[in-house]
Amino acid sequence: MSVQIPATMRAAVLRDPKIGLQVETIKTPHPRDGEVLIKVTACGMCHSDLHVIGGKIAFPLPCVLGHEVTGQIVEVGPGNEQTGLHVGQNVAGAFLMPCGKCEYCAQGRDDLCAPFFDMNRIKGQLYDGHTRLFGLDNEPIAMYSMGALSEYCVIPSTSVTALEDGMDMVAGSILGCAALTGYGAVRRGANLQYGETVAVVATGGIGSNIIQVAKAFGAAQIIAIDVDDEKLEAARKLGATDVVNSMKRNVRDEVLALTNGRGVDVAFEALGRPETWTSALDSLRDGGRMVPIGLGAGVQTAAVEINRTVRRSQSILGSYGARTRQDLPTVVKMASDGYIDYRHIVTRKFSLDQAGEGYKLLAQGKIQGRAVVDMSL
Ligand SMILES: NC(=O)c1ccc[n+]([C@@H]2O[C@H](COP(=O)([O-])OP(=O)(O)OC[C@H]3O[C@@H](n4cnc5c(N)ncnc54)[C@H](O)[C@@H]3O)[C@@H](O)[C@H]2O)c1
Ligand SMILES: [Zn+2]
Ligand SMILES: [Zn+2]
Repeated sequence: MSVQIPATMRAAVLRDPKIGLQVETIKTPHPRDGEVLIKVTACGMCHSDLHVIGGKIAFPLPCVLGHEVTGQIVEVGPGNEQTGLHVGQNVAGAFLMPCGKCEYCAQGRDDLCAPFFDMNRIKGQLYDGHTRLFGLDNEPIAMYSMGALSEYCVIPSTSVTALEDGMDMVAGSILGCAALTGYGAVRRGANLQYGETVAVVATGGIGSNIIQVAKAFGAAQIIAIDVDDEKLEAARKLGATDVVNSMKRNVRDEVLALTNGRGVDVAFEALGRPETWTSALDSLRDGGRMVPIGLGAGVQTAAVEINRTVRRSQSILGSYGARTRQDLPTVVKMASDGYIDYRHIVTRKFSLDQAGEGYKLLAQGKIQGRAVVDMSL
């Protein structure tokens, strides 16, 4: 099977944080060794993109953002003989793209892949030291993960999983970051055990998925903490057993009251601000685990009460993405089996031209659950 691939495509390019995203025509990329080309169906809109769009987290410019994607494979690069991937397959792509060859990847720790951080996150390249994206005048354009805010994107074949028949391809785009990161936090970061109690601070795109995965893993109690009552109501529908609005209530008092004065076994933090760290640490029981997932806006610190942490044997276990090669297939299966309700988390759909507007709404806290860019709009 071969597919006609146009020489150029439309992509949302960031050249200057002061200007924001602009849709441009650039060259359609092609896959190299161990990579595939996807015709993008949809791309989820994550708060991490906002850090780059707002100029808070440094990234080379010009660049194409967008790092949770679904689409159809239209070209398979060399070196894919053992992957089972083929043209025409519908896949989800993960933001954390392991090289598959470094020391950490050899240990199965895709989440620590050194080339992913050194080459993709710092330089916007893939693992031969080049980007796949070029302007019409051959200007190199950096890729944040696979650069999915475009009609086509190249992604390492380590980082895609076939979708099951009948899955919603548009909403499914959130699996590759929001759901994968939620799964990584619960399964890898916290290693949540059946019957444990949890708090989830910030119930946006990532927090909504943490709630669902924690429920699937048998959490006895899930306390959602956010500043927005509508988001907290949505969190209840996803499995939160209790909710606390931290603008209106004292988090520590409320969580202690809800847990017989004990605090929760695991507190997830999904925003990356000093005050959300405080809420998570304030929710913890003696011996509890705090799992921060939120990224700070650049170099940011949070206060940790030294003596409480030490004397009460509390742990802080950072969690980034998940182990893509093992965990993305599990996340897709959990979504297909109904344990992750990815369809209802997606509350807004934007066209590629409207992507900039969508990120503005996300920055204003006006997106419940997750918004996506639907390439058919
Ligand atoms: N560790 C990882 O692998 C990883 C992956 C993806 C995203 N992230 C990071 O996770 C964070 C969340 O991303 P998202 O896409 O879910 O964001 P989002 O914008 O969808 O959600 C943010 C949520 O925080 C809530 N909020 C705002 N202020 C609050 C406060 N003071 N207390 C409690 N809640 C508050 C908002 O109401 C909203 O529900 C970001 O920092 C993002 O960069 C990390
Ligand atoms: Zn993300
Ligand atoms: Zn690696």
